[in-house]
Amino acid sequence: MALRISPFSLSLLFLLPAFSWAAEPLHFTLSRRSESHDISFYTHAAEHLRGKYGVTKHVPGRRATAGISMVNQQSDASYFATVNIGTPPQPFNVILDTGSSDLWVADASCTTCSLSTPLFVAGNSTTIQLSASGTNIKYGSGEVAGQIGRDTVSMGGFTVTQQTFLAVDQLTSGLLDGSVSGILGLAFSTIASTRAVPFWQTLANNGQLTTPEMSFWMTRFRDDPNASVEEPGGIFTLGGTNSSLFTGDIEFIDMPVNTPTFWLLSLNAVTVQGRTVAISTGSASLSAIDTGTTLIGGPTKDVDAIYAAIPGSQKVASMAGFYSFRKSRTPFVHSPPPERILST
Ligand SMILES: *[C@@H]1O[C@H](CO)[C@@H](O)[C@H](O)[C@H]1NC(C)=O
Ligand SMILES: *[C@@H]1O[C@H](CO)[C@@H](O)[C@H](O)[C@H]1NC(C)=O
Ligand SMILES: *[C@@H]1O[C@H](CO)[C@@H](O)[C@H](O)[C@H]1NC(C)=O
Repeated sequence: MALRISPFSLSLLFLLPAFSWAAEPLHFTLSRRSESHDISFYTHAAEHLRGKYGVTKHVPGRRATAGISMVNQQSDASYFATVNIGTPPQPFNVILDTGSSDLWVADASCTTCSLSTPLFVAGNSTTIQLSASGTNIKYGSGEVAGQIGRDTVSMGGFTVTQQTFLAVDQLTSGLLDGSVSGILGLAFSTIASTRAVPFWQTLANNGQLTTPEMSFWMTRFRDDPNASVEEPGGIFTLGGTNSSLFTGDIEFIDMPVNTPTFWLLSLNAVTVQGRTVAISTGSASLSAIDTGTTLIGGPTKDVDAIYAAIPGSQKVASMAGFYSFRKSRTPFVHSPPPERILST
């Protein structure tokens, strides 16, 4: 989750027919719970035990793939879907963000949230555990702060009990729009500010998913002047890929790092209108695939080199790092390989 769309930017939206990588092992922290002796104690105890080890309510041998509908908000600015938190479930629209790893939703205690933002009411959930500690999460476009909690979280028919998330009471203005209440981070636990194992990673490690994969089929409305604020966004497939949504084979690429953080690959080459542009190599070529941003960003000298190859492009004086060019001459910027993963 980094930057919002700009009319001046190159705004190369990556369209991902599908991508997927294997998951990593998990590490869990143990915690104590208080005593109680009615029958619900044992139900809760079982849930807590599962949650403690990151185990979902799991029918052995039953793995699943879910096609989850997304909404395209503000002409490709965000893609969101519904997550349920608490008992009984409270539904929230959350931005699906492969560029971060925390789950957070705006809480009823939020003092800086817009009046239209649906809020999580912790007191309405019989399974909520709020910790005394709080934290904040920084994004490229703002920051949130709140209290760390654990509760039952479900999406697309998958459930994780005791999923750690942030109940947000303060956020930077403009971070949420319309009916959206938060962000579901889909990268790795190593970069989670809450230090939580992300929802998807728990499912993958518990064998809940048909394959430890996620894929996105995303709609595009940027060039449609009639687009409404919310349009159909496509399908987020959790636990596999949907062969009716792409053609050809999927190329699997090992991540060029030992410890996964973001979904990374090396950007090996860039061409503008077929002409190769020299870009950074080595660790400076590591690129995150981020469904939560509208932009492609890169090292300043690489971005400068790309725009230098685009006739008539110029720096935008009021926005450091941005360039403008005539829309009628939108260049074809391309990064092979892998051709299927990044394209304009
Ligand atoms: C796969 O995509 C098709 C076409 O959009 C859709 O009808 C179907 O429900 C999807 N399958 C799954 C498992 O999501
Ligand atoms: C929380 O509970 C109150 C009282 O039962 C109810 O009026 C309110 O609608 C609930 N809110 C949510 C978000 O569930
Ligand atoms: C937008 O709506 C107008 C009026 O209904 C229509 O003529 C035009 O074709 C539409 N444009 C697009 C890109 O759908």
